[in-house]
Amino acid sequence: MSYASEFCNYKPKEEAVILAIESSCDETAAAVVKGGRQILSNEIMSSVTEHIRFGGVVPEIASRAHTAAVSLVTDAALKSAGVTLADVDAVAVTYGAGLLGALLVGVSYAKALAFAANLPLVPVSHIRGHIAACYLGNPSLEPPFISLLASGGHTAVILVESYTSYRILGSTLDDAVGEAFDKVARVLGLDYPGGPNIEKLARLGSPSVPLPLMFKGEKTYDLSYSGLKTAVMNYRNKREMTGLPDDDADIACSFQQAAIGALVKRVEEAVDEFGILKVTAGGGVVANGYLREQLASACAKKSAQLFLPEKKLCTDNAAMIAAEGYIRYMNGEFAGLDLNACASVELR
Ligand SMILES: Nc1ncnc2c1ncn2[C@@H]1O[C@H](COP(=O)(O)OP(=O)(O)OP(=O)(O)O)[C@@H](O)[C@H]1O
Ligand SMILES: [Mg+2]
Repeated sequence: MSYASEFCNYKPKEEAVILAIESSCDETAAAVVKGGRQILSNEIMSSVTEHIRFGGVVPEIASRAHTAAVSLVTDAALKSAGVTLADVDAVAVTYGAGLLGALLVGVSYAKALAFAANLPLVPVSHIRGHIAACYLGNPSLEPPFISLLASGGHTAVILVESYTSYRILGSTLDDAVGEAFDKVARVLGLDYPGGPNIEKLARLGSPSVPLPLMFKGEKTYDLSYSGLKTAVMNYRNKREMTGLPDDDADIACSFQQAAIGALVKRVEEAVDEFGILKVTAGGGVVANGYLREQLASACAKKSAQLFLPEKKLCTDNAAMIAAEGYIRYMNGEFAGLDLNACASVELR
């Protein structure tokens, strides 16, 4: 009998306590969440400062940092939740998408923990985790809703039909929006991760730099950030070559407005087309204050309800993995001890 099949007769508990582990990129995180929505603890150790001088995450450094941090973070999560493994009903873990070596640390650790404590092991997609972050702290939220996914590696407008069924209305054809923020930040000489630094600089500027409109005049939910990024690079190079004074704050402000305007426009169109008056969002870029304001005013205009995760639940964390893990646990979706890490996973 395989490990996963040992749990096929389990009885799902509404108030299940899920211990989740996340290690897909440069954050080692563990969290304890009750009933899929109530965060009992949410611990994170980041290796971001070790990557700054390289201008991006170095996979080998991230993996080593995860190895050093994973048991410390998990112990801290159990302790601050005031529980022991005996109180836990399942171990959820991010198995993809992300850096393979980094994911393997969390997956191996979670497997060992689940096996030792005889607990079900729940495999979770990091991307679905970002989408499920909206359930945390929002006890009344139920599908269907329109979800905006805006992270470092993914960008999509999604119709969440039920807890387990998603329809991708459109997604980026090239760069993700977070990746575009990071690349434009680099052009402007700002440190990684670029998103928060662009947001800060944008506050000092005005949206006066002319930038191309994405898919001008076309009705589509798809997105494309490579043209916008190239337009910023060309504009700045031309200014530098002609000896004009630096207007980086205006560039940051104009880029932010264009990048985020395209997202909000698509959310508004989805609300109109499907008549669904509930909107959520998830992923690191949703920590951006301008995006949050723009979504709020778009939803107010349409009389739609907006459910946003707290800013710290937008960037990578394990509470969101527990939120999605709970849905999978209730559905009886368990992994065996042969669970492997996957660098990319299907969005749907
Ligand atoms: N305030 C902000 N404004 C804009 N972008 C931001 C902000 N805060 C974080 N970001 C961006 O969010 C991204 C990180 O988000 P996240 O952790 O969700 O991505 P990831 O885990 O690298 O990718 P994925 O989740 O798609 O695998 C980075 O690109 C970062 O620049
Ligand atoms: Mg992420």
